[in-house]
Amino acid sequence: MRSQALFLALAAVAAPVAAWDPFGHQTVGYLASKYFSESTAAHLTSLIGLSDRFDIGDAAAWADTVRDADGLPWSKNWHFINPRADNPATNTCKLEYPSDCPKGNCIIDAILNQTRAIMNPSLSASGRRNATMWVLHFFGDLHQPMHASGYKYGGNLVRPVCFGPMDQCNNGTSGDRVLSLHSIWDSAIPRKLRGLKAYETPAADKEAARLWAEDIYESQQAQADGTEEAREECGSMGCVVDWATESNRLVCEHALSKGEQWVLTHDLSGDYFLENAKVVQSQVGKAGRRLAQWMNALADILDQLPPVTEATRGEGDGYPTGDL
Ligand SMILES: *[C@@H]1O[C@H](CO)[C@@H](O)[C@H](O)[C@H]1NC(C)=O
Ligand SMILES: *[C@@H]1O[C@H](CO)[C@@H](O)[C@H](O)[C@H]1NC(C)=O
Ligand SMILES: *[C@@H]1O[C@H](CO)[C@@H](O)[C@H](O)[C@H]1NC(C)=O
Repeated sequence: MRSQALFLALAAVAAPVAAWDPFGHQTVGYLASKYFSESTAAHLTSLIGLSDRFDIGDAAAWADTVRDADGLPWSKNWHFINPRADNPATNTCKLEYPSDCPKGNCIIDAILNQTRAIMNPSLSASGRRNATMWVLHFFGDLHQPMHASGYKYGGNLVRPVCFGPMDQCNNGTSGDRVLSLHSIWDSAIPRKLRGLKAYETPAADKEAARLWAEDIYESQQAQADGTEEAREECGSMGCVVDWATESNRLVCEHALSKGEQWVLTHDLSGDYFLENAKVVQSQVGKAGRRLAQWMNALADILDQLPPVTEATRGEGDGYPTGDL
């Protein structure tokens, strides 16, 4: 049961830390762009208005800047799904769709819905731009296991935890940051993996994201040679549910595999970090590659649509929707 009190508690705890660091999202954007077809790159450039000053990394991180009170706060629940049965005490990770997505207010429906919105010629340019940036963003979130966990609101209420030498851990805070299992997966693990401090300049974060994408791309190319994984293709609705389910399982298999008590009482920057950095690296890699496949399939459909002009705007019915 989700009482009002718990929602308020979540709002208080979750506000500063509810998504991959921009750095993680930027990496997914840069990585995906290495796999975009020419047509995809052209469509995204015009849909979003990409330039050197606002590039694909910025576009992938945008959604977190409009999630809070002064932006588009109703989009907040689109960043995650909270499966109700999840419980580490019984090693249960169980995502049930659509029942775990009340009123379509979760990341799965948001991806599907916003993908349709990109193809909807009757939507305003601003609406299609936002829809495009939401899809870029949600592919990142979908691959962050804590965004697909219903246990204590995606680990936001799993506190205190320690990430750093135990004697520097101050009951679940680190400097002015509130630590939670969620924030450890969003920020602490990826930042430590790439040698970043908790705070760097935005330019340093973006440069680090470019380099991380480069490294992941190279290792994917090295493994590629026709393996199943490299050829994995999925442009259908059901894949989104599969990917969410995969993320959800990673919580039982890795994030909380040692149990909640263990996580609450150990320094997670040691062996826990080493094990789970591999999971993070692999998930960011999947997010980028899958996002590119999704966008490439979408671009094929956009290619078949008449260009959006004032004359066609508003004639929503009868447009092909393809099989995305
Ligand atoms: C789905 O799209 C409609 C129309 O664009 C919008 O009003 C609604 O909020 C969207 N919901 C999600 C979960 O994306
Ligand atoms: C798109 O997002 C911006 C915030 O970046 C907002 O001001 C604008 O109203 C949104 N457009 C639509 C159609 O919702
Ligand atoms: C940590 O903080 C919580 C509440 O914020 C408190 O109940 C608990 O006693 C504290 N634990 C330690 C070891 O200080």
